[in-house]
Amino acid sequence: MKILLQSPRERALEWHAALQAALPEATVAAWPDAPASPDYALVWKPPAELFIRARPTRAIFNLGAGVDGLMAVPTLPDDVPVIRLEDAGMAEQMAEYVTLAVLRAYREIDAYAAQQRDGLWRPRPRIAKPSFGVGFLGFGVLGNAVAHALLPFGFPLHAWSRTRKTTPGIVSYAGIAELDEFLAKARVLVCLLPATPDTASLLDRVALETLPAGAHVVNVARGGIVVDEDLVALLDNGHLAGATLDVFREEPLPPGHPFWHHPRVTLTPHASALTQVDDSVAQVAAKIRQLERGEWVTGIVDRARGY
Ligand SMILES: NC(=O)c1ccc[n+]([C@@H]2O[C@H](COP(=O)([O-])OP(=O)(O)OC[C@H]3O[C@@H](n4cnc5c(N)ncnc54)[C@H](OP(=O)(O)O)[C@@H]3O)[C@@H](O)[C@H]2O)c1
Repeated sequence: MKILLQSPRERALEWHAALQAALPEATVAAWPDAPASPDYALVWKPPAELFIRARPTRAIFNLGAGVDGLMAVPTLPDDVPVIRLEDAGMAEQMAEYVTLAVLRAYREIDAYAAQQRDGLWRPRPRIAKPSFGVGFLGFGVLGNAVAHALLPFGFPLHAWSRTRKTTPGIVSYAGIAELDEFLAKARVLVCLLPATPDTASLLDRVALETLPAGAHVVNVARGGIVVDEDLVALLDNGHLAGATLDVFREEPLPPGHPFWHHPRVTLTPHASALTQVDDSVAQVAAKIRQLERGEWVTGIVDRARGY
């Protein structure tokens, strides 16, 4: 079995060793070495040249949950299945990150920080929990895991997706026709959508104005889903209380971007859920073994939907 590995450059040796250990029978070539027709390729934001020099025959594994970077590669073969990472150690990290953001908003930690700076000892009244809905924009592998981590806190939970869900304790909204009704419930909006043509700039001024006054936006999905100027305008006019942003249209976020120093923005450098080498390799190796046995695997990307 021939495998081509084009991993994130900074940890290439670690990826190679882990993959070779998980599949000792395979010959693993590390890009830019490239067998002409490997059985499998494992890639992360590959250059267009990769699929010209090496045409995988069995499957292409994307070393991340979001496949937007791979879908944008013009030479990506359209007759080979693309398989993405599912959780692979990311769900727990997302749950930590989003829970922190939700509780920080609910417990008004930023308001207390301001009071502390002013030397003010002033307990704030408890916010009625039934009024503090948390909305998940995107309710797939990660949205589901994060919502379940939040369930014990008792916030009303709402989830918007393309198809209707029946998840106990979580109100489901499906499709664009139910987007406004969903947004109106979200005091904290958590974006966990994939970046596709349908979700590009979905969170524009109109959508953000539909959120309740004082809402908080958490974007841990992709920067292109949010219209930056519209988000800044609504933070400035006070309709939105805050934003916690991990992903941006341009990464690294350019110096001088208004998010950097906005008093209502908390930002992190695309670090909410880092790809875990061992978990990812174990998942990919298990799927390769399933495919070799002629079995079906989960996580195959639907090219028409784009995720
Ligand atoms: N910041 C980071 O470090 C980081 C790390 C990992 C992932 N991510 C991002 O998180 C995203 C989600 O990952 P995941 O594994 O949870 O993906 P997933 O399992 O594919 O879930 C995607 C969800 O979005 C919904 N959706 C997609 N297009 C939609 C549309 N047009 N309208 C309404 N709902 C739509 C899907 O609806 P259905 O359920 O009906 O299909 C599904 O619920 C990834 O695509 C990636 O961009 C970011």
